[in-house]
Amino acid sequence: MDLITDINWKEHVVDRMDTGVFLVDRTIKVLFWNRFMVMHTGQPAESVEGRNLFELFPDFPRRWFERKVEGVFVLKNQAFSSWEQRPYLFKFAHNRPVTGGVESMYQDVSLMPVLDIAGKAIAVCVSIRDVTDAAIYATRMKETMETLEQEKNEQRILIKKLEEAQSQLLQSEKMAAIGQLAAGVAHEINNPIGFIKSNMTSLQKYTASLVQLLEAYIKIEDQLDQNSSEMQTIANTKDQIDFEYLVEDIGDLMTESMDGVNRVSKIVKDLKDFSHVDQGDWKYEDLHRCIDSTLNVAWNELKYKAEIKKQYGEVPQVFCMGSQLNQVFLNLLVNAAHAIENRGIITITTAQKGEKVLITVADTGSGMNQEQLRRVFEPFFTTKPVGKGTGLGMSLSYGIIDKHEGKIEVESQEGEGTTFNIWLPIEGPATRDALPA
Ligand SMILES: Nc1ncnc2c1ncn2[C@@H]1O[C@H](COP(=O)(O)OP(=O)(O)OP(=O)(O)O)[C@@H](O)[C@H]1O
Ligand SMILES: [Mg+2]
Repeated sequence: MDLITDINWKEHVVDRMDTGVFLVDRTIKVLFWNRFMVMHTGQPAESVEGRNLFELFPDFPRRWFERKVEGVFVLKNQAFSSWEQRPYLFKFAHNRPVTGGVESMYQDVSLMPVLDIAGKAIAVCVSIRDVTDAAIYATRMKETMETLEQEKNEQRILIKKLEEAQSQLLQSEKMAAIGQLAAGVAHEINNPIGFIKSNMTSLQKYTASLVQLLEAYIKIEDQLDQNSSEMQTIANTKDQIDFEYLVEDIGDLMTESMDGVNRVSKIVKDLKDFSHVDQGDWKYEDLHRCIDSTLNVAWNELKYKAEIKKQYGEVPQVFCMGSQLNQVFLNLLVNAAHAIENRGIITITTAQKGEKVLITVADTGSGMNQEQLRRVFEPFFTTKPVGKGTGLGMSLSYGIIDKHEGKIEVESQEGEGTTFNIWLPIEGPATRDALPA
């Protein structure tokens, strides 16, 4: 016998398959219903075959199915629907309770055209495969991936926070170390510069007096014997030392030296302020008054460079060291003016933010590059020519704001400008009770 032609395909093959198989015609009348379908629907083949599918199963996704069947009839191509698009076609109980977690069987459905000898589509064969296990597995996998991804994100955020904390720690450690160094250097220089300054003041007076005395002598020169050897010696010495020039220059030298000494004193004072920012009066201050008085002081530096825009908000009085904050504002304003080449705008904004006050000083100046931005608060970091900047302004300001338990931040765009944000706690530092009265 010819196995392939003589076999009872329906009974021995199609009914034994672990797959739902049924045939419908173009009107969705059921032509065939295999055993898998019988078992899972509870509907025997005799009561299904010859009837319309939708009458038998009112919950069936009618429109979707009609469209699919029609498509297969017209195109004579296979159509497919996976469990991910449509979890199931028939709501079958799923037969693997061990896997748990799902109520119904997940199904992959395919629709194939059944052709007659002439190649005309006469029916559609629908097969339904149970893919519950794979679906559960895929779903769990997806959930696991999502959890992993979420954990990874949390870790990423945590690492970023750690990095920030570490860099802040490094920054404040560096500042503390530099502060100590600065305090030491300032202390060492303070004494000698003190007596140099006081001696210079006396020396300036003494030289002036000596010159005065000499001039008195010169006045009586005429009355002496011009041919005497003493007069000759005087004339020779005058020539040798270039007396006229010396008298003229001595005053300039003294003034210049005094200027230099004053500059060194100022640097020492800044250094001391940077390391001991604890002196000064702690009290409630109106920050707008502080800023306005600083603007007055700095007006000379600012007026040719910038238009000042004030955007003052409703801000309560802040417990602070007003004179120290003035220094911060002064440094910010002067830096802003220096950064502006021709003419620009400096905007000062204030606002209350919860328990804090935010003061913003923004300029339309040259801005800073990454390196400058990173080092702006570092003592002695300056991009200004010798004599113009010492590089202490911002480190000093950093120290002052730190003492207030506030925060100073900077944002800058090269060629566009710079913005400094200062956050100050309205009620002062948390440790304010321990502060000197
Ligand atoms: N608003 C700003 N725009 C552009 N660069 C700035 C600004 N503020 C500060 N900088 C940069 O930061 C550097 C350090 O500023 P800092 O005030 O500490 O020192 P300085 O102004 O150079 O000297 P000084 O001690 O006289 O203030 C400046 O030299 C400058 O390069
Ligand atoms: Mg400065």
